[in-house]
Amino acid sequence: MNNFPANNSEWLIEKIIKMGGTISFYDYMKFVLNDPISGYYGSGKAELGFKGDFVTSPSLSDDFAFFVGKQVEDWFIQFKSIIFYDQKLSLIEFGAGDGSFMSGIIKYFLASNKNISQRVSFIIIEPNQGMIEKQKKKLMKFLNLGIDISWKSLEEIEENNLNGIFIANEVLDALPVERITFLKGKLFRQAVSFDKESGRLYFDKLPITRELENSLYLAKSKLGITIPPKDAPEGWTTEWHVDNSEWLKAIYAKINHGILLIIDYAKEAKKYYASRNLNGTIISYKNQKILNNILDSPGNCDLTSHICTETLINDAETLGFEAVGTTKQGEALLLLGLAQRLYEIQKELKEDLSNALARREALLRLVDPLCLGDFKWFVFHKFNEQKININSTCMR
Ligand SMILES: C[S@@+](CC[C@H](N)C(=O)[O-])C[C@H]1O[C@@H](n2cnc3c(N)ncnc32)[C@H](O)[C@@H]1O
Repeated sequence: MNNFPANNSEWLIEKIIKMGGTISFYDYMKFVLNDPISGYYGSGKAELGFKGDFVTSPSLSDDFAFFVGKQVEDWFIQFKSIIFYDQKLSLIEFGAGDGSFMSGIIKYFLASNKNISQRVSFIIIEPNQGMIEKQKKKLMKFLNLGIDISWKSLEEIEENNLNGIFIANEVLDALPVERITFLKGKLFRQAVSFDKESGRLYFDKLPITRELENSLYLAKSKLGITIPPKDAPEGWTTEWHVDNSEWLKAIYAKINHGILLIIDYAKEAKKYYASRNLNGTIISYKNQKILNNILDSPGNCDLTSHICTETLINDAETLGFEAVGTTKQGEALLLLGLAQRLYEIQKELKEDLSNALARREALLRLVDPLCLGDFKWFVFHKFNEQKININSTCMR
C-alpha cells in the first residue's frame, strides 16, 4: 500500500496513473469536482453558506431569491400577456447547489403570486447526483405541497420545447477549464502529473491541441484577444473556457421561447488576458478560505474560475442568442428594490435586533463590490422565429 501525502488523494492518483501519469488540467478539474464518488460536487460533499466552504448569493439568505423572483415574475407576466396566455411556463435552474435558490424563489411565489407558483413547472438541471440528493431534501416540503418540481437532464427534453426562464448562478465558474501556459516562447496545455518519489501532484505541460489552437485563433480574429499577450512573462498562465459554448448550445437547442439569466464572476478580456495577470483567476476554497495551492486536497474543496465577459457573449451570440445586456449584481439588485428592502429591515431593528442585523449584513454582502456585488448578470433571449420585446427591470 502506498503512503500518499496528506494533500493528495489515493482515488485521484490511481486515476492519473491509469491515464499514464499525466492528465490535462481540464481533466483534473473535471475529476475533482464531478467524480461521482470522490468529487466535491459529484459526491455531494460541497457545503455552501456561512457554515460551509464558501458563500453564494442564494446561500446567504432568501433575499437574493426574493429579488430574482421579482424579476422572474415580471418576465412571466410579460410572457403570458404576449404569447402564452394559458400555457404552462417553466423556470429552469441549472446547477442548483444545495437547493437554496429554488427554495427561495418558490417561497417568493407562494407569498406574492400563488397563481404563478401553481402554473409553473420548476425544473432543476443538475448533473451531480450528490447535489441532487441535497436539493431534494431541501425542496421536499414544496413537493409535499404539490408544487411541480422535477429534476431532468437536458438530453431528456425535446428540442425547441421549453418556454420560460433559465437561470444559472455560479454554474459556469464550476465548469472545467483548460489552462494555457507560456513557457520558453511557446504555448502549452497545463497538465497535472504524479511524482512517484515524493508522492505529490505537480503542474506539468502537454502539447497544445488542434482544437485549442483553433479556438485561440477564432478569439483573436473575432474578438482581438491575443494569447499570449504581448510581453507575457515566462510561466504566464490563463484559463480557457472550452465548455461554455457546448453548454450554451445544448440549452439553446431546447428553448422555444426563453430568457437565460447567467450570474457569475466575470472579467473583461483586456484584464483577464493581460500580461500582468500572471496566473489567471482560478482558486480553490475550503472553510471560507482560499487555499495556497489549487492541487491541495483534491475533491474536498471548491475549484472555481472567472468567466470572460466577451467570450461568453460571443459564444452565446454565435449560437443565435440575442444579448440583452450585462450589468453588475449591485446595480441589478438596486433596480429590483434592494434599497426598499434595507429600509424595511431598518424598521425590524427595534423588534428583533440580532436577526435584523444578520439580514442587513447578508444584504450588504450581495452588493459589496469587494464581495458578491461585483458579480455580473448576463441576460440573453431566444424567441423562436418571432420578434418579441421583453423588458428587464434588472437591466434598465
Ligand atoms: C458553485 S455551485 C452553485 C450552486 C447554486 N447555483 C448557488 O448559487 O448556490 C455550482 C453548481 O453547479 C453544478 N454543476 C456543475 N457542472 C454543471 C453542469 N454542467 N450543468 C449544470 N450544473 C452543473 C454543481 O453540481 C453545483 O450544484
